[in-house]
Amino acid sequence: MRTTVGSDNITIDVHLTTQDPAIDRAEIRNGLLSSPRVLPTKYLYDDRGSELFEQICELPEYYQTRTEFQILVTCADKIIARSDADELVELGSGAATKTRVLLDAMDRAGQLNFYVPFDVSEGIVRRVSQELVEEYAALKVHGVVGDFLSHLEHIPDGGKRLVVFLGGTIGNLDDVAGAAFLSSVNKAMELGDHFLLSVQFVTEVNRLEAAYNDSKGVTAKFNKNMISVMQEMVRADFSPDAFDHVARFNHVESRIEIFLRSNKRQAVIFQDLDLVLSLENGEEIRTEISTKYDRKRAEQLLADANFELVEWYVDSDELLGLALAKKL
Ligand SMILES: C[S@@+](CC[C@H](N)C(=O)[O-])C[C@H]1O[C@@H](n2cnc3c(N)ncnc32)[C@H](O)[C@@H]1O
Repeated sequence: MRTTVGSDNITIDVHLTTQDPAIDRAEIRNGLLSSPRVLPTKYLYDDRGSELFEQICELPEYYQTRTEFQILVTCADKIIARSDADELVELGSGAATKTRVLLDAMDRAGQLNFYVPFDVSEGIVRRVSQELVEEYAALKVHGVVGDFLSHLEHIPDGGKRLVVFLGGTIGNLDDVAGAAFLSSVNKAMELGDHFLLSVQFVTEVNRLEAAYNDSKGVTAKFNKNMISVMQEMVRADFSPDAFDHVARFNHVESRIEIFLRSNKRQAVIFQDLDLVLSLENGEEIRTEISTKYDRKRAEQLLADANFELVEWYVDSDELLGLALAKKL
């Protein structure tokens, strides 16, 4: 479904509603019945979840956003010069706060034409599109509401592209899904296009675990928002009070894992899934992973997906890196 919104400079395509709901239900059901039990991370990001994630980005414990912001402030002009792009495509764009730093650099270089925010959360794509055409007079925005794991062919044709994947979102995908995703990003690009991949590096466990267990409990609210989404989406009858937020580092997999842990023995009815899920006290459902890489592992991921590394942009504490790569 395509809409032109209040301004000739904004087009929004919505692809999520065209998907058969039976596919989503089967994915949720299979995840709940698997071992470990999982729910798809993308459902954390309805409009409420996206708002909560914006609040997480402001938390003192969540060092990732300010670190990435600083790297961009320092390196955006170099990134734009190296990529020579006049179209910015952002996968998992969210509130696009840090994106402004790249748009400003494109503007300074006289190359600011076209921005494509691509996100599963419709409300935030619409909001960001409106904000950006107001902030940048000549900018055309073509928003895509879709799943970046299955709708990349809907990225609109445009100019010379810089495709960016910020916020360490690659870490939310396991190795198999991450490799498939990066290959499909590569296939969706043209020769000469560039890709900017944000990766969060392994650091002290205390710092990592604190980032997902903030003292104000915002991350807990964000995690429990999954319950509200499931209540609405598949008529699940579980209560947020019956679950605790748990986030811990898994050393073997080098990743933070986030769970909803049942705090009592309970049977949860999922009406639309034709499922009654029996949970023991202490049993966990995983809602998110966030893998922490080193440079070598990230470079291998890029090479396996047919990208050539151009340059790393890294903060002085080596907490986070932006890898600029070229499509081969
Ligand atoms: C970790 S946040 C990063 C947001 C923003 N890029 C930043 O750096 O702050 C992940 C973003 O990806 C979006 N997202 C998650 N899964 C998605 C999917 N399968 N398809 C499209 N967007 C997705 C979420 O809605 C959210 O905006």
